[in-house]
Amino acid sequence: MAFSSFSLDLSKLPKHVAIIMDGNGRWAKKHGFPRFYGHKKGAETAKKVIEKTYELRIPYLTLFAFSKENWKRPKKEVETILELFKVSLAKEKHFLIEKGIRLKVIGDRKDFSEDLVDLIEEIEEETRHNSKLTLCLALSYGGRAEILKAVKDISTKVKQGLLDPETIDEKVFREHLYTQDIPDPDLLIRTSGEERLSNFLLFQIAYTELYFTSVYWPEFTEEEYLKALYSYQKRERRFGGVHEF
Ligand code: FPP
Repeated sequence: MAFSSFSLDLSKLPKHVAIIMDGNGRWAKKHGFPRFYGHKKGAETAKKVIEKTYELRIPYLTLFAFSKENWKRPKKEVETILELFKVSLAKEKHFLIEKGIRLKVIGDRKDFSEDLVDLIEEIEEETRHNSKLTLCLALSYGGRAEILKAVKDISTKVKQGLLDPETIDEKVFREHLYTQDIPDPDLLIRTSGEERLSNFLLFQIAYTELYFTSVYWPEFTEEEYLKALYSYQKRERRFGGVHEF
């Protein structure tokens, strides 16, 4: 079946889509290309998905671009991926500004070079008031590290007498996560056939609908994206409640 935007109920789209973009390397290998070429194609796919998300007026998109664990890859590959981020961000800066897209980077930015951090902060600052779409890029991100950071920040405030432990509830905890001003994802997509969370948004994903596809990220076309959104629309979300008849 061919999918088009018309198959979708535009009033029932997720507000926040999160994506684990997986399979660049395997896609490259399958086609006899070096891994770097897979990442380059992956960056092109990311741009197309951002454009489609914008067009559909979905207000939040989070892309898992680089995990805490990805630092374990060969040095050369890490360097080429970081260079690709830098080049892509510099190239897309004006696109983000022009379209009214806010960039937000979550993860441990102290792991990155000063020039990459400067570029990220410059774009974040310039797009801070944009509201059409929040593009959240997870870079050097790990869900457990994020939770531990929140625990440490909260403990420090308690120790300094700035926070009463009795007042720590879910709202207070969320305020200490990277995603403090972003709603939980409604839909999580993972490409490449792997069916696991890989330390992504562990706290935020509690009631998120999961969608797995065997397609490698560079071949995740608009049609594949629409299929995922269509699958989401067929689901009944109860958040721990009962069926409504
Ligand atoms: C996933 O495939 C790729 C990454 C985690 C690397 C970085 C992602 C991109 C370059 C795409 C998005 C780009 C931007 C600018 C947002 P993999 O290498 O884990 O594939 P494999 O599991 O098949 O080896």
